[in-house]
Amino acid sequence: MTYRTIVPPIKSQGIKTKLVPWIQALVPAMKGRWIEPFLGTGVVAFNSGFRKALLADINPHVIGFYQAVKDKVITPASVRKFLEDEGRLLATADDKGYAHFRAVKDRFNKNFDPLDFLFLSRAGFNGMMRFNRKGEWNIPFCQKPERFAPAYITKIVNQVHDVACLIQPEWTLRVSSFERVIEEATEDDIIYCDPPYIGRYVDYYSGWTEDNERQLHALLSTSPARFILSTWHHNDYRANQFVESLWGKFNIVTRDHFYHSGGKIENRRSVVEALVFNFPANIQKHNHGLQPKPEQIVLLEEREKYITQQLAGAYG
Ligand SMILES: C[S@@+](CC[C@H](N)C(=O)[O-])C[C@H]1O[C@@H](n2cnc3c(N)ncnc32)[C@H](O)[C@@H]1O
Repeated sequence: MTYRTIVPPIKSQGIKTKLVPWIQALVPAMKGRWIEPFLGTGVVAFNSGFRKALLADINPHVIGFYQAVKDKVITPASVRKFLEDEGRLLATADDKGYAHFRAVKDRFNKNFDPLDFLFLSRAGFNGMMRFNRKGEWNIPFCQKPERFAPAYITKIVNQVHDVACLIQPEWTLRVSSFERVIEEATEDDIIYCDPPYIGRYVDYYSGWTEDNERQLHALLSTSPARFILSTWHHNDYRANQFVESLWGKFNIVTRDHFYHSGGKIENRRSVVEALVFNFPANIQKHNHGLQPKPEQIVLLEEREKYITQQLAGAYG
Protein backbone atom coordinates (compact mmCIF):
# COMPACT_ATOMS: atom_id res chain seq x y z
CA MET A 1 0.00 0.00 0.00
CA THR A 2 1.47 3.33 -0.99
CA TYR A 3 1.11 6.48 1.01
CA ARG A 4 1.89 9.76 -0.65
CA THR A 5 1.88 13.19 0.92
CA ILE A 6 0.30 15.71 -1.42
CA VAL A 7 2.88 18.44 -2.05
CA PRO A 8 1.59 21.94 -2.80
CA PRO A 9 2.89 24.23 -5.59
CA ILE A 10 3.85 27.07 -3.21
CA LYS A 11 7.06 26.69 -1.18
CA SER A 12 8.33 28.22 2.06
CA GLN A 13 11.07 27.54 4.58
CA GLY A 14 8.52 26.60 7.28
CA ILE A 15 6.77 23.96 5.14
CA LYS A 16 5.66 20.93 7.15
CA THR A 17 5.70 18.32 4.36
CA LYS A 18 7.95 15.87 6.25
CA LEU A 19 5.82 16.10 9.40
CA VAL A 20 2.47 15.52 7.70
CA PRO A 21 2.16 11.75 8.44
CA TRP A 22 2.94 12.38 12.10
CA ILE A 23 0.37 15.20 12.38
CA GLN A 24 -2.16 13.11 10.42
CA ALA A 25 -1.80 10.20 12.83
CA LEU A 26 -3.00 12.44 15.63
CA VAL A 27 -6.02 13.99 13.90
CA PRO A 28 -9.23 12.71 15.52
CA ALA A 29 -12.39 11.96 13.55
CA MET A 30 -14.58 15.09 13.78
CA LYS A 31 -18.03 16.02 12.50
CA GLY A 32 -17.06 19.59 11.78
CA ARG A 33 -14.39 21.59 10.02
CA TRP A 34 -10.64 21.54 9.66
CA ILE A 35 -9.68 25.02 10.84
CA GLU A 36 -6.16 26.19 10.03
CA PRO A 37 -5.43 29.82 10.99
CA PHE A 38 -1.76 29.76 9.86
CA LEU A 39 -2.18 28.10 6.48
CA GLY A 40 1.22 28.88 4.90
CA THR A 41 1.74 26.64 1.86
CA GLY A 42 -1.34 24.61 2.84
CA VAL A 43 0.44 21.25 2.91
CA VAL A 44 -1.20 20.11 6.16
CA ALA A 45 -4.71 21.16 5.05
CA PHE A 46 -4.33 19.47 1.67
CA ASN A 47 -3.57 16.21 3.43
CA SER A 48 -6.24 16.61 6.11
CA GLY A 49 -8.99 14.72 4.26
CA PHE A 50 -11.73 17.07 5.57
CA ARG A 51 -14.68 18.03 3.41
CA LYS A 52 -15.34 21.25 5.30
CA ALA A 53 -12.58 23.70 6.20
CA LEU A 54 -11.79 27.26 7.19
CA LEU A 55 -8.28 28.14 6.02
CA ALA A 56 -6.72 31.49 6.86
CA ASP A 57 -3.45 33.36 6.87
CA ILE A 58 -2.43 36.95 7.38
CA ASN A 59 -0.41 36.70 4.16
CA PRO A 60 -2.81 37.66 1.34
CA HIS A 61 -0.66 36.06 -1.37
CA VAL A 62 -0.99 32.46 -0.23
CA ILE A 63 -4.73 32.88 0.29
CA GLY A 64 -5.09 34.74 -3.02
CA PHE A 65 -3.27 31.99 -4.87
CA TYR A 66 -5.46 29.17 -3.53
CA GLN A 67 -8.63 31.26 -3.92
CA ALA A 68 -7.72 31.71 -7.60
CA VAL A 69 -7.23 27.92 -7.90
CA LYS A 70 -10.56 27.31 -6.16
CA ASP A 71 -12.33 29.79 -8.48
CA LYS A 72 -10.59 28.22 -11.51
CA VAL A 73 -9.05 31.59 -12.37
CA ILE A 74 -5.81 29.60 -12.19
CA THR A 75 -5.89 26.14 -13.76
CA PRO A 76 -3.20 23.56 -14.53
CA ALA A 77 -3.39 24.61 -18.20
CA SER A 78 -3.01 28.33 -17.44
CA VAL A 79 -0.07 27.57 -15.14
CA ARG A 80 1.63 25.53 -17.86
CA LYS A 81 1.25 28.29 -20.44
CA PHE A 82 2.39 30.98 -18.01
CA LEU A 83 5.49 29.08 -16.85
CA GLU A 84 6.46 28.09 -20.40
CA ASP A 85 6.24 31.74 -21.54
CA GLU A 86 8.00 33.16 -18.49
CA GLY A 87 10.54 30.33 -18.48
CA ARG A 88 11.55 31.18 -22.06
CA LEU A 89 12.01 34.84 -21.12
CA LEU A 90 14.05 33.83 -18.07
CA ALA A 91 16.33 31.55 -20.09
CA THR A 92 17.28 34.30 -22.53
CA ALA A 93 17.33 37.30 -20.19
CA ASP A 94 20.42 39.39 -19.44
CA ASP A 95 22.47 38.98 -16.33
CA LYS A 96 22.09 35.14 -16.43
CA GLY A 97 18.33 35.38 -16.12
CA TYR A 98 18.34 37.86 -13.28
CA ALA A 99 16.95 40.66 -15.49
CA HIS A 100 13.72 38.75 -16.03
CA PHE A 101 13.47 37.57 -12.42
CA ARG A 102 13.73 41.26 -11.43
CA ALA A 103 11.05 42.20 -13.97
CA VAL A 104 8.62 39.62 -12.54
CA LYS A 105 9.47 40.70 -9.00
CA ASP A 106 8.79 44.38 -9.86
CA ARG A 107 5.54 43.43 -11.59
CA PHE A 108 4.43 41.32 -8.61
CA ASN A 109 5.27 44.12 -6.17
CA LYS A 110 2.86 46.39 -8.07
CA ASN A 111 0.03 44.01 -9.05
CA PHE A 112 0.39 41.07 -6.62
CA ASP A 113 -0.64 38.68 -9.37
CA PRO A 114 -1.00 35.08 -8.07
CA LEU A 115 0.81 33.61 -11.09
CA ASP A 116 3.76 35.93 -10.52
CA PHE A 117 3.69 34.81 -6.89
CA LEU A 118 3.98 31.18 -8.05
CA PHE A 119 6.86 32.13 -10.38
CA LEU A 120 8.77 33.86 -7.55
CA SER A 121 8.11 31.00 -5.15
CA ARG A 122 9.54 28.51 -7.65
CA ALA A 123 12.41 30.62 -9.03
CA GLY A 124 13.52 32.11 -5.72
CA PHE A 125 16.51 30.97 -3.73
CA ASN A 126 15.96 27.65 -1.95
CA GLY A 127 12.15 27.73 -2.02
CA MET A 128 12.08 30.51 0.56
CA MET A 129 9.34 33.08 1.06
CA ARG A 130 10.02 36.46 2.63
CA PHE A 131 8.55 39.93 2.31
CA ASN A 132 10.23 43.22 3.22
CA ARG A 133 8.79 45.99 5.38
CA LYS A 134 6.77 47.35 2.48
CA GLY A 135 5.24 43.92 1.92
CA GLU A 136 7.33 43.33 -1.23
CA TRP A 137 8.88 40.03 -2.32
CA ASN A 138 12.33 39.82 -0.79
CA ILE A 139 13.99 36.56 -1.88
CA PRO A 140 16.70 36.60 -4.56
CA PHE A 141 16.82 34.53 -7.75
CA CYS A 142 17.96 30.90 -7.52
CA GLN A 143 20.47 31.83 -10.25
CA LYS A 144 19.31 29.14 -12.64
CA PRO A 145 18.20 30.72 -15.93
CA GLU A 146 17.00 27.29 -17.13
CA ARG A 147 14.87 26.92 -14.01
CA PHE A 148 11.63 26.23 -15.85
CA ALA A 149 12.72 23.16 -17.79
CA PRO A 150 9.83 20.99 -19.12
CA ALA A 151 10.07 18.40 -16.29
CA TYR A 152 10.00 21.11 -13.62
CA ILE A 153 6.99 22.81 -15.23
CA THR A 154 5.15 19.47 -15.37
CA LYS A 155 5.91 18.87 -11.70
CA ILE A 156 4.43 22.26 -10.74
CA VAL A 157 1.43 21.81 -13.05
CA ASN A 158 0.71 18.43 -11.42
CA GLN A 159 0.94 20.02 -7.98
CA VAL A 160 -1.57 22.68 -9.05
CA HIS A 161 -3.78 19.90 -10.37
CA ASP A 162 -3.55 17.98 -7.08
CA VAL A 163 -4.58 20.96 -4.98
CA ALA A 164 -7.32 21.93 -7.45
CA CYS A 165 -8.77 18.42 -6.95
CA LEU A 166 -8.48 18.62 -3.19
CA ILE A 167 -9.90 22.09 -2.54
CA GLN A 168 -13.53 21.38 -1.74
CA PRO A 169 -16.52 23.67 -2.40
CA GLU A 170 -16.98 23.85 1.36
CA TRP A 171 -13.48 25.13 2.03
CA THR A 172 -13.45 28.82 2.95
CA LEU A 173 -10.22 30.75 2.37
CA ARG A 174 -9.72 33.98 4.30
CA VAL A 175 -7.08 36.67 4.79
CA SER A 176 -7.19 37.16 8.54
CA SER A 177 -5.20 37.26 11.70
CA PHE A 178 -5.61 34.14 13.82
CA GLU A 179 -7.76 35.58 16.63
CA ARG A 180 -11.06 35.92 14.74
CA VAL A 181 -10.61 32.53 13.08
CA ILE A 182 -10.08 30.63 16.33
CA GLU A 183 -13.02 32.39 17.96
CA GLU A 184 -15.32 30.89 15.30
CA ALA A 185 -14.48 27.27 16.12
CA THR A 186 -17.16 25.02 17.64
CA GLU A 187 -16.90 21.74 19.53
CA ASP A 188 -17.31 19.83 16.25
CA ASP A 189 -14.18 21.36 14.73
CA ILE A 190 -10.47 20.62 14.89
CA ILE A 191 -8.05 23.56 14.81
CA TYR A 192 -4.52 22.96 13.55
CA CYS A 193 -2.13 25.80 14.42
CA ASP A 194 1.36 26.24 13.02
CA PRO A 195 2.28 29.80 14.03
CA PRO A 196 5.65 31.35 13.25
CA TYR A 197 8.26 30.33 15.76
CA ILE A 198 9.40 33.22 17.94
CA GLY A 199 12.66 34.67 16.66
CA ARG A 200 12.75 32.67 13.40
CA TYR A 201 11.96 33.74 9.81
CA VAL A 202 10.80 37.19 10.83
CA ASP A 203 9.40 39.19 7.92
CA TYR A 204 6.44 41.41 7.07
CA TYR A 205 3.89 38.60 7.53
CA SER A 206 5.54 36.40 10.11
CA GLY A 207 6.59 38.48 13.05
CA TRP A 208 5.66 36.61 16.22
CA THR A 209 5.97 37.92 19.76
CA GLU A 210 5.47 36.60 23.27
CA ASP A 211 2.17 38.50 23.36
CA ASN A 212 1.02 36.68 20.23
CA GLU A 213 1.95 33.34 21.81
CA ARG A 214 0.05 34.22 25.00
CA GLN A 215 -2.98 35.36 23.05
CA LEU A 216 -2.94 32.13 21.03
CA HIS A 217 -2.71 30.17 24.27
CA ALA A 218 -5.65 32.06 25.80
CA LEU A 219 -7.83 31.46 22.74
CA LEU A 220 -6.99 27.77 22.37
CA SER A 221 -7.39 27.15 26.12
CA THR A 222 -10.95 28.46 26.09
CA SER A 223 -12.03 27.15 22.69
CA PRO A 224 -14.70 24.41 22.69
CA ALA A 225 -12.89 22.85 19.69
CA ARG A 226 -10.13 20.28 19.71
CA PHE A 227 -6.76 21.65 18.72
CA ILE A 228 -3.30 20.55 17.63
CA LEU A 229 -0.47 23.07 17.86
CA SER A 230 2.90 22.63 16.15
CA THR A 231 5.85 24.16 17.93
CA TRP A 232 9.51 23.48 18.57
CA HIS A 233 10.51 21.71 21.76
CA HIS A 234 14.27 22.17 21.83
CA ASN A 235 17.31 22.30 19.59
CA ASP A 236 21.00 21.64 20.25
CA TYR A 237 21.35 24.93 22.11
CA ARG A 238 18.18 25.68 24.01
CA ALA A 239 14.67 24.67 24.97
CA ASN A 240 11.47 26.48 24.01
CA GLN A 241 10.49 27.95 27.39
CA PHE A 242 6.81 28.24 26.36
CA VAL A 243 6.36 24.49 26.04
CA GLU A 244 6.60 24.19 29.83
CA SER A 245 5.38 27.59 30.96
CA LEU A 246 2.36 27.94 28.67
CA TRP A 247 1.52 24.63 27.04
CA GLY A 248 2.55 22.22 29.81
CA LYS A 249 -1.00 21.50 30.99
CA PHE A 250 -1.91 19.92 27.61
CA ASN A 251 -0.74 16.67 26.01
CA ILE A 252 2.61 16.96 24.26
CA VAL A 253 4.40 14.59 21.91
CA THR A 254 7.75 15.16 20.23
CA ARG A 255 9.67 14.07 17.19
CA ASP A 256 13.18 14.65 15.78
CA HIS A 257 13.26 16.77 12.67
CA PHE A 258 16.13 17.80 10.40
CA TYR A 259 16.04 20.79 8.17
CA HIS A 260 18.48 22.52 5.86
CA SER A 261 19.11 26.22 5.83
CA GLY A 262 21.10 26.79 2.68
CA GLY A 263 21.92 23.79 0.53
CA LYS A 264 25.06 22.65 2.34
CA ILE A 265 25.27 19.54 4.48
CA GLU A 266 27.04 21.44 7.28
CA ASN A 267 23.98 23.68 7.51
CA ARG A 268 21.79 20.73 8.41
CA ARG A 269 20.38 21.36 11.83
CA SER A 270 18.23 19.24 14.04
CA VAL A 271 15.30 20.39 16.08
CA VAL A 272 12.88 18.45 18.22
CA GLU A 273 9.38 19.35 17.07
CA ALA A 274 6.38 19.16 19.39
CA LEU A 275 2.66 18.71 18.94
CA VAL A 276 0.52 20.09 21.75
CA PHE A 277 -3.10 18.90 21.84
CA ASN A 278 -6.16 18.99 24.10
CA PHE A 279 -7.73 15.55 23.64
CA PRO A 280 -6.81 11.97 24.54
CA ALA A 281 -4.80 10.08 21.90
CA ASN A 282 -2.96 6.82 21.62
CA ILE A 283 0.38 8.06 20.33
CA GLN A 284 4.01 7.58 21.35
CA LYS A 285 5.47 10.33 23.52
CA HIS A 286 8.57 10.59 21.38
CA ASN A 287 8.31 9.30 17.85
CA HIS A 288 10.90 8.16 15.35
CA GLY A 289 8.67 7.30 12.42
CA LEU A 290 5.05 6.64 13.27
CA GLN A 291 2.79 5.14 10.62
CA PRO A 292 -0.55 6.75 9.84
CA LYS A 293 -3.74 5.05 10.99
CA PRO A 294 -5.26 2.52 8.52
CA GLU A 295 -8.42 4.56 7.87
CA GLN A 296 -6.29 7.56 6.94
CA ILE A 297 -4.32 5.45 4.49
CA VAL A 298 -7.58 4.44 2.84
CA LEU A 299 -8.74 8.05 2.67
CA LEU A 300 -5.49 9.14 1.11
CA GLU A 301 -5.49 6.18 -1.26
CA GLU A 302 -8.91 7.14 -2.53
CA ARG A 303 -7.78 10.68 -3.09
CA GLU A 304 -4.62 9.52 -4.76
CA LYS A 305 -6.58 7.28 -7.11
CA TYR A 306 -8.88 10.16 -7.93
CA ILE A 307 -5.98 12.48 -8.64
CA THR A 308 -4.17 9.90 -10.78
CA GLN A 309 -7.31 9.32 -12.85
CA GLN A 310 -7.80 13.05 -13.27
CA LEU A 311 -4.20 13.44 -14.37
CA ALA A 312 -4.52 10.63 -16.88
CA GLY A 313 -7.60 12.37 -18.27
CA ALA A 314 -5.97 15.77 -18.45
CA TYR A 315 -2.55 14.85 -19.81
CA GLY A 316 -2.71 11.20 -20.83
C1 LIG B 1 5.17 28.43 10.06
S1 LIG B 1 4.16 29.14 8.83
C2 LIG B 1 2.96 27.90 8.50
C3 LIG B 1 3.56 26.83 7.66
C4 LIG B 1 2.55 25.81 7.15
N1 LIG B 1 2.11 24.92 8.21
C5 LIG B 1 3.19 25.01 6.04
O1 LIG B 1 3.45 23.81 6.21
O2 LIG B 1 3.45 25.59 4.98
C6 LIG B 1 3.29 30.37 9.69
C7 LIG B 1 2.25 31.13 8.87
O3 LIG B 1 1.56 32.01 9.77
C8 LIG B 1 1.24 33.20 9.08
N2 LIG B 1 1.00 34.24 10.11
C9 LIG B 1 1.91 34.99 10.77
N3 LIG B 1 1.31 35.79 11.68
C10 LIG B 1 -0.02 35.52 11.59
C11 LIG B 1 -1.17 36.00 12.27
N4 LIG B 1 -1.07 36.93 13.22
N5 LIG B 1 -2.38 35.49 11.94
C12 LIG B 1 -2.49 34.57 10.95
N6 LIG B 1 -1.43 34.08 10.26
C13 LIG B 1 -0.21 34.54 10.59
C14 LIG B 1 2.42 33.45 8.16
O4 LIG B 1 2.04 34.25 7.06
C15 LIG B 1 2.80 32.01 7.76
O5 LIG B 1 2.18 31.66 6.55
